[in-house]
Amino acid sequence: MIFTVLTLFPSIFESPLGESLIKKARDRGLLEFNIVNIRAFATDIHKTCDDAPFGGGAGMVMKVEPIRDAMEHVDKDRGRPRYVLLTPHGRRFDQELAMRFSRLSHLALVCGRYEGIDERILTLVDDEVSIGDYVLSGGEAAALVVIDAVSRLVPGVVGNDASPVDESFRDGLLEYPQYTRPREFLGMEVPQVLLSGNHEEIRRWRRKESLRRTILRRPDLMERLQPTEADSLLIRELMEELD
Ligand code: 6GU
Repeated sequence: MIFTVLTLFPSIFESPLGESLIKKARDRGLLEFNIVNIRAFATDIHKTCDDAPFGGGAGMVMKVEPIRDAMEHVDKDRGRPRYVLLTPHGRRFDQELAMRFSRLSHLALVCGRYEGIDERILTLVDDEVSIGDYVLSGGEAAALVVIDAVSRLVPGVVGNDASPVDESFRDGLLEYPQYTRPREFLGMEVPQVLLSGNHEEIRRWRRKESLRRTILRRPDLMERLQPTEADSLLIRELMEELD
């Protein structure tokens, strides 16, 4: 999968995309990153990419032409990708959108800065995406969040093929608690069932703890769950315990 990023700050992407899982996936040819400096497409001697807002007011607005020219360059160079503008006004990014993006062969993320981008950018992009209800100073940190969440869903990127589907949110539940050595820490024991070697019991315990956690911490996620017969039994048990 190819990720193109259009940004005024290309160096922000160097370290986060050069470490750990993503680095390994790049080395194996599963992911490719095409970081495009929007400033290279400014046409005046000062390489201007922002200007004062029409109508007045504080701050500067990103100009649309350098972004359009950067996009045309990408289209000619690599074929037209899906263009996603990162903006606090966008659709909220979630695991479902991450899964949809992971099926694309080429995703382009357009990072805004300053007080915003000229509204006419909306005629050039396919989607607008936000990563949550808070304000970032630019789309770069959001682009890295999207790249991380999408990359790990690309087949082969995460070593163990089973692990991405086992995780929080895949089936709409939070993940169950995990433990490793030592068996006792500050008087706290690892739950006995995990040491039992009884895989059926372990599966049942994990499912129950996923349900417990989701009911207690994210009851909003329970509304979307389609419980199996076994889930319903576990939920009844939990309701009795929690009373
Ligand atoms: Cl995508 N951009 C900015 N600037 N702020 C945000 C955001 C994006 N998502 C949440 N806050």
